[in-house]
Amino acid sequence: MLPTIAWDDDALVMIDQRKLPGQEVYVRCRTGADVARAIRSMVIRGAPAIGVAAAMGLALGMRRSKAQGTRQFAVEFTKLCELLAATRPTAVNLFWAIDRMKRTFAAGVQAGESPDELKARLDREAQAIHDEDVDSCRAMGRFGAAIVPDAARILTHCNAGALATAGYGTALGVIRAAAEAGRVARVFADETRPFLQGARLTAWELVRDHVPTTVITESMAGPLMRRGEIDVVVVGADRIAANGDVANKIGTYTVAMLAQAHGVPFYVAAPLSTIDLDTPDGDRIPIEQRDAREITHLGATRLAPEGAAIWNPAFDVTPAALIAGIITERGIARPPFADSLPLLFGRGSAEVSE
Ligand code: MRU
Repeated sequence: MLPTIAWDDDALVMIDQRKLPGQEVYVRCRTGADVARAIRSMVIRGAPAIGVAAAMGLALGMRRSKAQGTRQFAVEFTKLCELLAATRPTAVNLFWAIDRMKRTFAAGVQAGESPDELKARLDREAQAIHDEDVDSCRAMGRFGAAIVPDAARILTHCNAGALATAGYGTALGVIRAAAEAGRVARVFADETRPFLQGARLTAWELVRDHVPTTVITESMAGPLMRRGEIDVVVVGADRIAANGDVANKIGTYTVAMLAQAHGVPFYVAAPLSTIDLDTPDGDRIPIEQRDAREITHLGATRLAPEGAAIWNPAFDVTPAALIAGIITERGIARPPFADSLPLLFGRGSAEVSE
């Protein structure tokens, strides 16, 4: 499995996703601030991976603390939580992981633990978040493979693979499980302008796994569907609101509209840590605006003229009405999502299919 993020002695090591597929190089983070920089600059990206990195970054940062007493240790912990929370606003997994680490910390303080004991507790929790993420992806694969028909031609957008998680992937986890069952004829990977996660990362992962892969630009998805060459769409998510609206990489909404127009089922695969029942609908999801340079330049080459204004939202919102199902580690939630999503958390009374 791909090493998205791992401990190496007293450092956190991440494959540099900005450099793939040209170079396979690794970034060593020695401090919590290094991890925050790595998340902001997209060394590591993808909602679940961002959450895992934040949890491990907190464990790393606090390992380094020289605080003598719990009070100073708590001050440093709070500061690092704030630094990590300010890295990227849309993927709710970031805030979910930080909240979980805060609850762990509070339980340790409540139990009267020393800074050394708190460090060990944070380490254990971060590792649990990492390991549970891989388990969730595997479970999503098992549930999700059921929606993939025989000899399927699948379209995916952005990268929701091993690189975007602690391992195996969400949407790519579903595709991997279906491929392992011999049911995938071909995967079409949207190139995913402007950061090219599809062309660079998804295609890299699939080719390594020997899954037949075709890279297309987003503008080619419509004609492909019109020719009847896509059977199902599976994408990941950065945040799913309580009504089932889904924030995911910019361009996802357009794919969902095309899928509806052509009668192609559109599925989202995401762990429970991506579902935000406190956000009622997609309009309340904060959408990150990224640097204009991602659009104006390709590497060092300027594509757009100086003086042109740039709009560069990193994500869009796909309305729940366009989504056939949300594949999670606890089963597939079906519309109406306002009823089926709470059930995944053991709340409510609607049906979730297994
Ligand atoms: O800006 P990115 O690369 O972090 O955006 C990633 C996506 O939009 C993914 O589709 C999403 O996080 C799901 S990853 C399993």
